Amino acid sequence: MMGAFEQRMIMRRWRSLAVGLLTLMSAPAAQAVPLSVLPQPASMVPAAGSYGVGQSHLFADPGDAGAIAAAARFRALLDRSGGPTLPMAGDARHAIAFVRDPSVVGAEAYALTVTPDKITIRASGDAGLYYGAETLWQLVAAAKDGRIPAVRIDDRPAFAWRGVMLDSARHFQPVAYVEQLLDRMALAKLNRFHWHLTDDQGWRLPVDNYPRLTEIGAWRTPAGPAGRDPKTGEAVRYGGFYTHDEIRAVVAYAAARHIVVVPEIEMPGHATAAIAAYPALASTATPPTAPSADWGILPNLFNTSDQTFTMLHAVLDQVMALFPGPYIHIGGDESPKGQWQADPRERAKLASLGLHNDGQLQGWFTAQIGAYLEQHGRRLVGWDEILEGGVPADATVMSWHGIDGALAAARSGHDAVLAPEPTFYLDNRQSDSPDEPPGRGEIVDWKRLYDFPLLPATITSAERAHILGVQANLWTEHVGNGRDADRMLWPRAAVVAELGWSPAQGHDWSGFSRRLVSAMAGWRALGWGYDETPLAAEATVAGDQIALRQPAGIGTLRYTIDGSAPTTISPAYTAPIPLAQAGDVHAQSFLDGVALGVAARFRVDATSARTEAASAMRQCARKLPLRLADSGGSADGRPIHWVDVMEPCWIWPAAPLDGATHVVAQVAQVPYNFSFGNDPIPAHFAPPRTRFGELEVRQDRCDGPLIAIVPMTAPTRGESEAKAPLAMPVTGPHDLCMTFTQATADPLWVLDRLTLGR
Ligand code: ACM
Repeated sequence: MMGAFEQRMIMRRWRSLAVGLLTLMSAPAAQAVPLSVLPQPASMVPAAGSYGVGQSHLFADPGDAGAIAAAARFRALLDRSGGPTLPMAGDARHAIAFVRDPSVVGAEAYALTVTPDKITIRASGDAGLYYGAETLWQLVAAAKDGRIPAVRIDDRPAFAWRGVMLDSARHFQPVAYVEQLLDRMALAKLNRFHWHLTDDQGWRLPVDNYPRLTEIGAWRTPAGPAGRDPKTGEAVRYGGFYTHDEIRAVVAYAAARHIVVVPEIEMPGHATAAIAAYPALASTATPPTAPSADWGILPNLFNTSDQTFTMLHAVLDQVMALFPGPYIHIGGDESPKGQWQADPRERAKLASLGLHNDGQLQGWFTAQIGAYLEQHGRRLVGWDEILEGGVPADATVMSWHGIDGALAAARSGHDAVLAPEPTFYLDNRQSDSPDEPPGRGEIVDWKRLYDFPLLPATITSAERAHILGVQANLWTEHVGNGRDADRMLWPRAAVVAELGWSPAQGHDWSGFSRRLVSAMAGWRALGWGYDETPLAAEATVAGDQIALRQPAGIGTLRYTIDGSAPTTISPAYTAPIPLAQAGDVHAQSFLDGVALGVAARFRVDATSARTEAASAMRQCARKLPLRLADSGGSADGRPIHWVDVMEPCWIWPAAPLDGATHVVAQVAQVPYNFSFGNDPIPAHFAPPRTRFGELEVRQDRCDGPLIAIVPMTAPTRGESEAKAPLAMPVTGPHDLCMTFTQATADPLWVLDRLTLGR
């Protein structure tokens, strides 16, 4: 059993682009799921016959701007996806007709009837007519031969608030990206765009009379080598801001798609960029002089002086002039009180207000801002920390600490939005594949998100009435470009759209996953990106077998071992394949005859046995696991490191040590740009023996025998290799635990790959 098999313990795996393209080309073009709509309509009753769209025309009452806009949206989606160009005509007979109908109750509700003779979309509100158009395009996209099966759809949302948050502070996205996101949100009937415009790392909103907010606050120097121009050595300026005209354009673009923009201005914490611009607003004698390049929780809080409120009122005046929606988000999260505790002015303020603690002082701060917004007819939204200090009566609470904050808010009569982390935090990765974009290390796969239990059975109807809805949040510390942002957002934002829109009674993963695959075909037709990595097969070698798995769990996984590309009639994967048979495994999932994602090819290769990628290793503690790219943005091809920045430590389970004489490590250095509020850095390192530190390899346990000490010989930008002999011969498979010694946390050594050499 051992011997030859041991040679093959580890496989090299690779994805062949050529194989992927071949498979895509051989996949059937048409989707086989009729009447596929995402989010699932409240009621959908199929009828007899079908309607041919190709020769049709559109009708909308010439005096009805909302009906005309809905028809135009339908036509625009058809145009963009290569569908037929349908004329507008003055005759409703045999047409696709958009009709105002006051009997359809609810601003977002619509009725869509397809008969062999005509299609009618009826709604009382503009949004309903528009959503009817979104649904109709999906029916066309999913139909075969342009014929839509007859159906009667009566649709309305389960929740009023169906949101997406985009963090434009940690990384800055151009307006074109924001508009693309809004366009996609509209197709998913998502209707709240929460725009995170300010944070420690950047301020994106020009404010009249406070020019330094963008002159200083909009620009940072990225951490580490990315912060220096390699040619000139000058500091790199990263950032940007949205001009007032751009913001008005975004707001109008959103409004045309029935999306309300909810701007967020963070206070009193996450305020480093603003404080760097106006140090008089600081609560410390040594304020920051530039926006931060660090991620996490920073110590900087606005002080509570009149000057701060004068400035914040000016900011809110600007916000209210640009954003007409009822909701203004004022942050309120993660405001560590160390600076307030150390600042005599804040101690005096607390005493003069008769308050007992700094939580109450934040509550007072929030109340001042809430009163200002109320005077101007706007409503305050805050993260659930605002509950701690006493909340203004009409404040809306956005619950990110699970759903408990939302339930507590609802019990005390406040409106609440559910955005529980980690499940609704789309900066988490969606599979364990090394091909996922950078992000946080928790795996929030599609089914986990879809199956999230939103509301407890015990909720009363009065409490339920306060739950406005759901929201997906894309924080962008690790999301540096639009391609990665698209992959983190989609399809998961569409999953959240379904949770927010569709009736809970219809919950059904199997049906949902079919509609999701159909929706992806529609996105491809529209030229929109999404993450298909979880649809591709993964492989692991266990014992003398190779096990296959598709992380998304959608469709039937099929494989070949003869070098050919899998097809719909290749064997379905049901059990691990004996390695003796598995020289060259190709694997791909199929659903309803359609190939899913990119084909994968795995080669079990004796020469690359005994190598393990860090991405496939376990992290010892999983405190703050990250898939980390440089802070300058993640360009294609930049290495992504898998590291726990609170406890950097990797475990290679059952490493095949037999016969090994030395270890070869691929390592890299990354800037340690993480902040933990008023707390010191939690990562601890043993002192180095040599100048640049060592990789220590221990057997069985992290306090087990030290079997190799690999000196780091020089600092590195990019990957480098280091080797050392094993201290003693070891037989059999053992877990290996890897840590680095280093004098300080910054820069941080990370392990990318380990090889057991002979
Ligand atoms: C948050 O994640 N700090 C709202």
